[in-house]
Amino acid sequence: MSCTLRASVVTGLEFLAADEVKERLSVPEVLEGRGFITWSQDIETVTQALNLKIIDHLQVTMSKFMVEFADENTAALDQLEDLVPQVDWQTGLNVWSHFTDFPHTVSSLPVDSKPELDRGDRDLQTSTVPLPKYRATCHRAGQHHKFSSPEAGHRLGGIIQTRFGWNVNLKDFDLEVVIRITDNEVTFGIALTKVSLYHRNVSEFSRTTLKANICAGLLRLADIQPNEIVVDPMCGSGNVIVEGALTHPHSFCLAGDIQEYCVGSSIANILAVNSKRQEQGLPQLNAGVIQWDATNLPLVTDSVDVIVTDLPYGKRMGNKVDNRKLYPMFLTEAARVTRPQSSRAVILTADRKCMNTVLPQVRKWWSMPRTTIINHGGIRSCIYLLRRTALVW
Ligand SMILES: C[S@@+](CC[C@H](N)C(=O)[O-])C[C@H]1O[C@@H](n2cnc3c(N)ncnc32)[C@H](O)[C@@H]1O
Repeated sequence: MSCTLRASVVTGLEFLAADEVKERLSVPEVLEGRGFITWSQDIETVTQALNLKIIDHLQVTMSKFMVEFADENTAALDQLEDLVPQVDWQTGLNVWSHFTDFPHTVSSLPVDSKPELDRGDRDLQTSTVPLPKYRATCHRAGQHHKFSSPEAGHRLGGIIQTRFGWNVNLKDFDLEVVIRITDNEVTFGIALTKVSLYHRNVSEFSRTTLKANICAGLLRLADIQPNEIVVDPMCGSGNVIVEGALTHPHSFCLAGDIQEYCVGSSIANILAVNSKRQEQGLPQLNAGVIQWDATNLPLVTDSVDVIVTDLPYGKRMGNKVDNRKLYPMFLTEAARVTRPQSSRAVILTADRKCMNTVLPQVRKWWSMPRTTIINHGGIRSCIYLLRRTALVW
């Protein structure tokens, strides 16, 4: 039996997240929307989705409806309420049961259907079986609704509570029903993750620590092959290299930063991951960290296969005047240490103005097959995929 999963994704990274789902979960088709992807998957293997690296939150979609909403508030809310009995709660709760630590089976039957239940189901509905604490969250987009998101959430939350007898708890909930209303489309889902999947790997953060799911997107774009040498020359707290070493164990990942405290954080993050891996009997990360200046790297010419980095934006880190000096010097030094024709550089920055000025100056070293705009914590940023030209240093 299959179900429909929906994952939220940093806007701009949908195509990379879709690629990852196809490859890791052997799913033939993934639909991409703005800020999310959705696909169909066998329920037996559904928890494999937790191993995905680029997605943010995961939910199961139970049902989707098209509704011509009435022009009046009460009538439109009644239309929403009428959908609740038609939702495929059975599939939703079945999938959710694979992800939750709630220790009891939750019935998809309404409490008022007790007389029609057989004995086993009736036991489930008795007060001796604890019911989950739950909340309903409503996201609404579109202009022609005569109700607000809180109104819809409140009405649907109430009707779901009456139907199943679950207790509302907005903060400490076991189960979250997510209702999305976009123009005429209404979908009902259940959240399968409580915290975003990017909360992983690092324990020491800097002001500019890049989320692990964005790191995973950059690394995927770099198309890293076994035995390649991957370098983050401005590593901050080292999340790119930790994620890289975890997902590409047959490569060597090297990180560096000009700031001593960043080098310290990166080493601490690698050691923390390694100590957990040791407890689990897993091999240590193939990664190292050095304090260096990215415009004058202690690396031999023609020795690096891939550069993946998150440059100072001039917002939280550095300033835009510095960037005008730093970016061309760094891209020239990066050209020296990389291999003509085969090396790639994947570079994230919000200082697009500076990058777009500098790239023509270094075009004899770097061609630019692709740029991708992403929404990075509310900052419009750009990922530049650069390919090293054939010109020998
Ligand atoms: C945007 S932050 C990188 C954040 C990092 N991706 C993380 O997850 O923590 C940019 C980093 O570049 C470093 N940096 C700036 N100029 C540098 C230079 N010339 N050489 C090496 N690192 C430099 C800064 O110290 C800062 O840590």
